[in-house]
Amino acid sequence: MLKQLFRTKSLDALVHEGEDPTHQLKRALGAFDVLMLGIGAIIGAGIFATIGTAAAGDAARPGAGPALMLSFVLTGIACGFAALCYAEFAAMVPISGSAYTYSYGTLGELVAWIIGWDLIIEYAVGNVAVAISWSNYFKTFVAGFGIIIPDWISIDYRTASKIPGLLEHAPHLFGVPIVFNLPAFSIVAFITIILVIGIRESARLNTIMVLIKLVVLAIFVWIGFHYVKPANWKPFAPNGWAGVQAGAAIVFFAYIGFDAVSTVAEEVKNPKRDLPIGIIGSLIVCTIIYILVAAVFTGIIPYKALVKTLATSQAEPLTLAIQYANIQNWGNILVGVIAFGSVIAHTAVLLVFQLGQPRIFFSMARDGLLPKSFAKVHPKFRTPHVTTIFTGVAVGICAMFTTIDEMVDLTNIGTLFAFILVCTGILILRKREPDRPRSFRTPWVPLIPVLGIVACFYLIFGLPWITWIRFAVWLLIGMVIYFSYGYKKSRIRQEL
Ligand code: ALA
Repeated sequence: MLKQLFRTKSLDALVHEGEDPTHQLKRALGAFDVLMLGIGAIIGAGIFATIGTAAAGDAARPGAGPALMLSFVLTGIACGFAALCYAEFAAMVPISGSAYTYSYGTLGELVAWIIGWDLIIEYAVGNVAVAISWSNYFKTFVAGFGIIIPDWISIDYRTASKIPGLLEHAPHLFGVPIVFNLPAFSIVAFITIILVIGIRESARLNTIMVLIKLVVLAIFVWIGFHYVKPANWKPFAPNGWAGVQAGAAIVFFAYIGFDAVSTVAEEVKNPKRDLPIGIIGSLIVCTIIYILVAAVFTGIIPYKALVKTLATSQAEPLTLAIQYANIQNWGNILVGVIAFGSVIAHTAVLLVFQLGQPRIFFSMARDGLLPKSFAKVHPKFRTPHVTTIFTGVAVGICAMFTTIDEMVDLTNIGTLFAFILVCTGILILRKREPDRPRSFRTPWVPLIPVLGIVACFYLIFGLPWITWIRFAVWLLIGMVIYFSYGYKKSRIRQEL
């Protein structure tokens, strides 16, 4: 049994699967496209929404305060170690299943299943958080045009209970207040329909969305910089190192996405060269942007004011900072511009992840670990409609009722776990197949992968314990499904 659990797929067979002409995707992307796709997947709810909680803290953890900048540096370095490992794998096995595929080739079927199951957290749960954040910025954006979306149809129950008077004023059914997040559900439904019909997010559309988000963040930094008061940066770390660590564990969400680049591996013209450029390049660009945004954000709004505001209201950090700066004449226009850029940024992230999740289900179904219907392709639209709709319904419903911070924490722990396994995979493969050609080599092995593993564990320890429990429960459910289905139906097992 143990042999079966840890049986690996040969890497050559994996690469061969991707070269099968009957299942080949079009290789149309160059290094620039890959870099843009990376930035498109990375910049979203993390920088536009989670930095508020990271700086101010919440009931479960201390805030980083202005040391949020340091949190971004810390997380950027941790992601850097993981990105170097991802780059080696992606260039060596340019197959779209990402970490799931790498694990199947190195750590065996059981670990591959765990990773595939875990990636649902990164992609689907991550998108729940992004949809909630999208809804908040959308609300701010349309408010600029005088359209006020009532609170009770744009919030979840627990966040609503923090806001004085909201539950009391919501409509009641049998004495129970009705609150749910309709815009979050609607954007997921809209994107799901688009993805089923098959208007796949083209590289060009993505590039336009990326340019919009970069310009909007540049405007925030440039104009916001003039309203920074250096006194707000003192004390630099109001909650000491504990606040910096907790902040780093939250803003990790902002970096998720550079790894998603590896899922387009089969569509890149020269994956051996372009994937490492895209993965590492997008991470470097975003790290620089994030540190600048964090510096301006914490320089405009004093730590204490931020804590007070976030304790009793649902506020979007970047527009909050601009409102706080009280910019004469065109402050409102600037709020609108930032909210617009944010809505676009979130939409791009939603598209990439909502597209990626069905692909991972697809790979798992192809390997027999999930039912065959998960690998079905629509006869007319040629899209994996079953998994796309399934993902859309699940993400949309969760987005109506959950709080963003909980979803961010869960996404982070799941993704950190995936990174740990990818770093471990590099260590194993260097030992097992030292002579396999590697067009990109992670430098200083074993040091870098080991540092990657240690750094990811460190960030996991910065997350609230309730998140660990939720994650453990999720993995447990996965185990039950594997042993009652995938273990028996696995294609490798059938072939034996
Ligand atoms: N990094 C992505 C975001 O911040 C998930 O939205």
